[in-house]
Amino acid sequence: MKVLMINGSPREKGNTALSLEEMRKVFEKNGIEVEIVNVGRLAVKGCLACGACAKVGHCVQDELVPQLAEKLAAADGLVIGSPVHYASAGGALVSVLDRLFYSCQADLTMKVGAAICVARRGGSSATFDELNKYFTISGMPVASSQYWNMVYGRAPGEAAQDAEGMRTVRVLAENMSFLMKSIALGKEKYGLPAKEDRVFTNFIR
Ligand SMILES: Cc1cc2nc3c(=O)[nH]c(=O)nc-3n(C[C@H](O)[C@H](O)[C@H](O)COP(=O)(O)O)c2cc1C
Repeated sequence: MKVLMINGSPREKGNTALSLEEMRKVFEKNGIEVEIVNVGRLAVKGCLACGACAKVGHCVQDELVPQLAEKLAAADGLVIGSPVHYASAGGALVSVLDRLFYSCQADLTMKVGAAICVARRGGSSATFDELNKYFTISGMPVASSQYWNMVYGRAPGEAAQDAEGMRTVRVLAENMSFLMKSIALGKEKYGLPAKEDRVFTNFIR
């Protein structure tokens, strides 16, 4: 059983990393393998809406997104960690996630998702909502905790002083571990839920 974690902070040893490490301990205690990929310092572009992914089956802009898509296909769960930048997720992270979720051909149904956000003071709630939208358009159940998944701190390391934030992410990792294991059992017993073909409509036709 495996969890992919994507860290969207440009500070690879910052508070998002610290929070993800707090979760890693819980996953590993539960026998779940963890891989963390840092994307926050990468010079990445957003989606070009070129449509190439629909033809070739992966994003053609770089190696990173197809590699992440492969890792995601092999994982049972995905944790997205982001700093709050101007009340939103980190810019590089959003560029990567838009392309990853738009181009990914793997079936993400029933892979468990969780987002955590780290802020000095404001914008966590909006960022949390923003990140959860990637899961909830993909058939991914969202794991939750005792509180919304927010951690507070400004300078690197300060998040360790946020006792409630640390507890929130630990409980999140426990709940997510349980959910992934339960879904694995459920898949064996019942299989994946029945699907319907996707239909794309808009408001003018
Ligand atoms: C460009 C930029 C914008 C930021 N915007 C916000 C913000 O809107 N709200 C907030 O509370 N903190 C904001 N911060 C502070 C960071 O969220 C905070 O330092 C957090 O600990 C960063 O996590 P990290 O150490 O993983 O990078 C901002 C920081 C930067 C560099």
